[in-house]
Amino acid sequence: MKRIRKAVFPVAGLGTRFLPATKAMPKEMLTVVDRPVIQHVVDEARAAGIEHLIFITGRNKHIIEDHFDKQFELEATLRGRNKLAELAALERDTPPAGGTSFTRQQEPLGLGHAVWCARDIVGNEPFALLLPDMLHLGVKPCLAEMIEAYEAKGGNHIGVYPVADDETHQYGIVDVAGSSDKVAKIARMVEKPAKGTAPSNLAISGRYILQPTIFDLLEKQERGAGGEIQLTDSMLELAKTEAFHAVRFDGRVYDTGSKLGFLSANVAYAMMRADIAPDFRKAITEILDLR
Ligand code: G1P
Repeated sequence: MKRIRKAVFPVAGLGTRFLPATKAMPKEMLTVVDRPVIQHVVDEARAAGIEHLIFITGRNKHIIEDHFDKQFELEATLRGRNKLAELAALERDTPPAGGTSFTRQQEPLGLGHAVWCARDIVGNEPFALLLPDMLHLGVKPCLAEMIEAYEAKGGNHIGVYPVADDETHQYGIVDVAGSSDKVAKIARMVEKPAKGTAPSNLAISGRYILQPTIFDLLEKQERGAGGEIQLTDSMLELAKTEAFHAVRFDGRVYDTGSKLGFLSANVAYAMMRADIAPDFRKAITEILDLR
């Protein structure tokens, strides 16, 4: 069985839901506490043992590339000022030389098309796909749990979590035929089902382990919902010949593409930080007048 070494991050989206913040700055660089959203997702991938990070970018996204590069001037200044903890933190976060690739999605043709843009860089091996809007906060990183499931069962894996019944139309939904197992075979998948028609409330959380055969299907994939090339359509096609498993994530998932999700993620991640949580709790209590 081939190891999962590479992870794809589609970061070409325009971020129109966050204007004007995203007029000149990529939405992936908005911060949750003091780390850009994309850094949190890269942290998850690296904690799961991923060695090569593949970013599908677009125009106006070059600061993402800068963010994952060394910053010599800054590092020299920190060294000169003896700020060694800050320097060590920067060095820890910088991926190893040759451990990143960047390619551009030239037109916004959908998630399926963005993933297809990674085909040559991924090559003929299974890979992880992480949608950077979705932050997963749990005891164990979501992708690490999925790689464990992949190593046990092979095939394709999709991270899922339960959402409220009135939210199912915003997500890809999977049906595991009533199974409550942590890792369950997928019986059915549907992308953004119309209200009241979802086969379950298990939403695709934006974490995938996919076999490279997906690229052949994406290449031929016709436009689907919203006139875009949909990843879920090609996964449905692949599911006819290859196993797909849902891996239930038991932690919390924040959709930072929505204002509510983004603000909630900031509160949740701040509360996980020993250096911030006590004072932050006081501050929020005061703001909400909860005393
Ligand atoms: C995409 C996927 C969807 C998934 C969602 C998670 O949709 O197509 O299946 O549930 O991400 O955020 P998008 O949010 O790009 O519309």
